[in-house]
Amino acid sequence: MKLAISGKGGVGKSTLAAALALLLARNGRRVLAVDADPDANLASALGIPAGLQQGIIPISQQIALIEERTGAKVKGYGQMFKLNPHVADVAERCAFMFDNIALLVLGAIEKGGTGCACPESVFIRALVSDLILQKDDALIVDMEAGVEHLGRATVRGVDAMIIVVEPGLRAIECAHRIISMSADIGLTRVKLVANKVTNADDERFIRGAFPSHELLGAIPFSALFGAADRRGESVLTGLDDDLTRIFVDILQKVTA
Ligand SMILES: Nc1ncnc2c1ncn2[C@@H]1O[C@H](COP(=O)(O)OP(=O)(O)O)[C@@H](O)[C@H]1O
Ligand SMILES: [Mg+2]
Repeated sequence: MKLAISGKGGVGKSTLAAALALLLARNGRRVLAVDADPDANLASALGIPAGLQQGIIPISQQIALIEERTGAKVKGYGQMFKLNPHVADVAERCAFMFDNIALLVLGAIEKGGTGCACPESVFIRALVSDLILQKDDALIVDMEAGVEHLGRATVRGVDAMIIVVEPGLRAIECAHRIISMSADIGLTRVKLVANKVTNADDERFIRGAFPSHELLGAIPFSALFGAADRRGESVLTGLDDDLTRIFVDILQKVTA
């Protein structure tokens, strides 16, 4: 099961990504959780204590590894480098292990001009492609508001792209842009999850905005998420049965 999760900043991508990863792990699956959002917060959503998070070095900052594998200097210009760096061992080497979950934080890449083909981005693209096409583990990729890191060659390995939307025009417009970017790379298995829903109108508003896409579920707005966050606990900690059930149903629907 390989899922990409996208949506506007703050809609609840990491909340959903962490919940699905934790549920899969709870079911005994080995899970690779990839934080591909430069505004990375998947580690906290998984409940990894702040003290331990300091030990997580984003891939984009693993300069020695990137230089060794691409044969090029990070921040060097006009160099030749391997477009197909060896990455098969990177998940094992660099992932932060937390219960049954291996977390990889990709980190931000400074984009220089158009079409960045710097060693960091080539390395990360090769890594994501390896995780999607070669690895057997369940994979959850927490993305930014787009399809960065995915390409035509990798989308065939993605079972679904889940776009999280909250009941507001900005989140909906952003979701439509992501749907169109996904279509551009041939990714049409796009589904939606409504989050921070406060009433039936909110849910209808979201359903109405995406008549041709499956809505996997609607997660209500709940103070329980903020409370778990402030305690530094995982997104599933302290949820009541009804809320937990919604995530279980979403996972069931997307894996069906
Ligand atoms: N259903 C919800 N009800 C209330 N707060 C939520 C809900 N889902 C997410 N949040 C809160 O919204 C904030 C952003 O969520 P997060 O998952 O980090 O978003 P993203 O990864 O899309 O930026 C967090 O503080 C989170 O606790
Ligand atoms: Mg996030």
